[in-house]
Amino acid sequence: MSILVTGGAGFIGANFVLDWLAQSDEPVVTLDKLTYAGNLENLASLQGDARHSFVQGDIGDRALLDRLLAEHRPRAVLHFAAESHVDRSIHGPEDFIQTNVLGSFRLLEAVRAFWSVLPEAEKTAFRFLHVSTDEVYGSLSPSDPAFAETNRYEPNSPYSASKAASDHLVRAWHHTYGLPVLTTNCSNNYGPYHFPEKLIPLMIVNALAGKPLPVYGDGMQIRDWLYVRDHCSAIRRVLQAGRLGETYNVGGWNEKPNIDIVNTVCALLDELRPRADGQSYRTQITYVKDRPGHDRRYAIDARKLEAELGWKPAETFETGIRKTVAWYLDNAAWVARVQSGAYRDWVATQYGATP
Ligand code: NAD
Ligand code: TYD
Repeated sequence: MSILVTGGAGFIGANFVLDWLAQSDEPVVTLDKLTYAGNLENLASLQGDARHSFVQGDIGDRALLDRLLAEHRPRAVLHFAAESHVDRSIHGPEDFIQTNVLGSFRLLEAVRAFWSVLPEAEKTAFRFLHVSTDEVYGSLSPSDPAFAETNRYEPNSPYSASKAASDHLVRAWHHTYGLPVLTTNCSNNYGPYHFPEKLIPLMIVNALAGKPLPVYGDGMQIRDWLYVRDHCSAIRRVLQAGRLGETYNVGGWNEKPNIDIVNTVCALLDELRPRADGQSYRTQITYVKDRPGHDRRYAIDARKLEAELGWKPAETFETGIRKTVAWYLDNAAWVARVQSGAYRDWVATQYGATP
């Protein structure tokens, strides 16, 4: 038995693959296009591990998908691959439609073709787990209750609209074709291997580099933060015991305004790596022009996942953010290679030609 993970060289996918193989010997096939966000170095510790194989390719490549599915016969597909950065989606939405909508459609079709001719027992056991976001639900006012699975879809950015579209496709492939799907909608993740264009890693690396810490608008937008490895444990739990066709919201009841997040990162850096001049990293905070259409507040109601499947996060925000800041301090070489672009040479350096 094995599982196929799409997008496994990205932030959450890499954490998922590493955690999976730390807990189980069930092999993993990672399919990743290695866009700017894909960093095979994230999986470097698996080099030479017979339980892991990596394939560079696009989820939109039907011939490749057919070949991979026939060759590896996975018992589950975990679909992480996506264009994931809201700011990039505002500047160039096309890639988001290509990968998140069309790519997910191609993947669903390939998986359906593979699944529909499986022997009955394998067919019954098979799962397609779609990893999605809370951003599909739109924005909350300060007094609104947190997003439940029954909330209306009201995506506001090209990113969230493309993810919403993929969620709808997944739902339809279950209702129309009986494909055994599960969907998770998670809040903002943070932790190791997070690409430093997103809020938390950007603040850490800019602070250390003596650069401004750009806070959009008034910094009072609220996100609900979850440590990435807790997201991974939720996905494993949903894969194991989730009800077919259901969606599960994943979150840790950790709503915080952005400015609080930035202040916390600064305070941890002041403690762990004080500035040479004795000043706080807070002095680097700079308020900048707001993101167009910026959602004001996200919050996840994760009671369904807890009540049905008994999942709870292991980290509090305080423990998770301390681990995260420490990881970035301990992994300066990873950061440097991401910043210089050298991480993109990793495939050629490690594998010669295309693996
Ligand atoms: P990421 O951008 O770090 O990684 C995405 C990965 O997908 C990269 O390795 C990239 O190379 C790969 N990829 C992109 N297009 C591809 C294609 N066409 N074919 C194959 N591979 C492709 O993203 P992430 O933060 O790890 O997010 C993973 C998933 O989780 C996404 O579906 C995202 O919508 C969802 N999600 C993210 C968050 C978050 O806070 N980061 C929260 C909830 C849900
Ligand atoms: P981000 O990490 O891009 O995640 P998302 O937009 O998917 O929630 O941003 C998190 C929040 O931080 C969001 O409200 C935008 C804000 N933000 C800043 O204030 N400054 C920044 O430089 C970035 C990247 C984000």
